[in-house]
Amino acid sequence: MSMQIDKKKLKNRVSSRKKIIVKLAQRSYPIYIEPGLLTQIHRIIPEFYIGKQIAIITNPTVGNLYAETVKVELGKAGLQPVIFAIPDGECYKNLDVVRDLYSRLLEHKFDRASAIIALGGGVIGDTAGFVAATYLRGIPFIQIPTTLLAQVDSSVGGKVGVDLLEGKNLVGSFYQPILVLIDPTVLTTLPQREVKAGLAEVIKHGVIYDAPFFAWLEKNINHILNLDMKCLSKIIARSCMIKAKVVSLDETERGLRALLNFGHTIGHAIETVTGYDRYRHGEAVAIGMVAAGKLAHSISMLNANDLNRMIELIQAAGLPTTIPNLEISKFLDTIYRDKKITAHKLRMVLPQKLGQVKIVTDISEKQIIRTIRALVEK
Ligand SMILES: NC(=O)c1ccc[n+]([C@@H]2O[C@H](COP(=O)([O-])OP(=O)(O)OC[C@H]3O[C@@H](n4cnc5c(N)ncnc54)[C@H](O)[C@@H]3O)[C@@H](O)[C@H]2O)c1
Ligand SMILES: [Zn+2]
Repeated sequence: MSMQIDKKKLKNRVSSRKKIIVKLAQRSYPIYIEPGLLTQIHRIIPEFYIGKQIAIITNPTVGNLYAETVKVELGKAGLQPVIFAIPDGECYKNLDVVRDLYSRLLEHKFDRASAIIALGGGVIGDTAGFVAATYLRGIPFIQIPTTLLAQVDSSVGGKVGVDLLEGKNLVGSFYQPILVLIDPTVLTTLPQREVKAGLAEVIKHGVIYDAPFFAWLEKNINHILNLDMKCLSKIIARSCMIKAKVVSLDETERGLRALLNFGHTIGHAIETVTGYDRYRHGEAVAIGMVAAGKLAHSISMLNANDLNRMIELIQAAGLPTTIPNLEISKFLDTIYRDKKITAHKLRMVLPQKLGQVKIVTDISEKQIIRTIRALVEK
């Protein structure tokens, strides 16, 4: 029997792979998205990385599920992978863990021609990226994001860093990966709550930039929650496309990139006031988006229909739109300490209509108080 390449199968495989380029002159890089991509990476990585030594930085949760597959794949490509696991959790996104990773890289004699893979969610991506950015003044870095939040947001754009005891993300850099590899099938092991939290950033992309995508999300939200792979690939690709576009126009957040903060001014304050343990980041952003929408409606910037559609989609995604209680004074202290405040004026990204937002700089404290009160459950 003669062996023949099944051209149809090959075409299907190749055509289901989506490729998005983050355009940053010489530092441009591709994002590949495809269900099952994890077992294809031995073909892709050697095109971008010609060294031999490579560290897979992960945590035990993700590592037990996927690190061996990645290691075997890298082996097939002739690379020499080592797995460095760090403990799971935001509290390990810190400088002690970074120092420990430097030591392990030195022990294994990693040099400037060696590379790092981040295999995990945003915590791993930010920490491993920071290590890659700073070890020997920077070594090549590949992102394999495994949470929805990391696949649609944190793995794209090059923000890397760690937390200090004084606050989150206070130390970091802009450092772009050479490649982002996204396999949506890894989301089948992700807790539902994490999937929903990631959806907040997807909805955000629709509101800030893409009304047809927002309408598509309204129609397909149940398929997405049921982890339909085609739908997941689409929301990841669309989100990466939007983020990639914004980042390539404003890499270091001097202008346009601020639009990605829609829902985040109030979202961050909610996270801080509730001590980072009541809400996942996406849940706080969901409430923050509702707040921004209500504020925009109260100043006649956003019509009631668009506001309701936004709230209904957030609810349909299983995300919160209200808070049980909140100490307003603590909340105001936090929000006015936020780094996005210039000259005591609160800058907020507000929606004008679905698909379009604007930075507004003259929001008064009274308006903020009224908006927050409207969010608290009666
Ligand atoms: N760099 C950026 O631009 C950027 C943007 C947004 C958020 N962030 C950062 O991202 C972090 C949050 O990231 P996150 O929401 O991905 O949280 P996370 O990295 O803590 O992951 C959430 C949980 O899911 C587990 N997990 C990951 N993938 C899994 C999988 N496929 N199956 C089963 N379990 C899995 C993790 O081990 C963890 O317990 C924060 O530190 C935030 O500051 C960075
Ligand atoms: Zn966010």
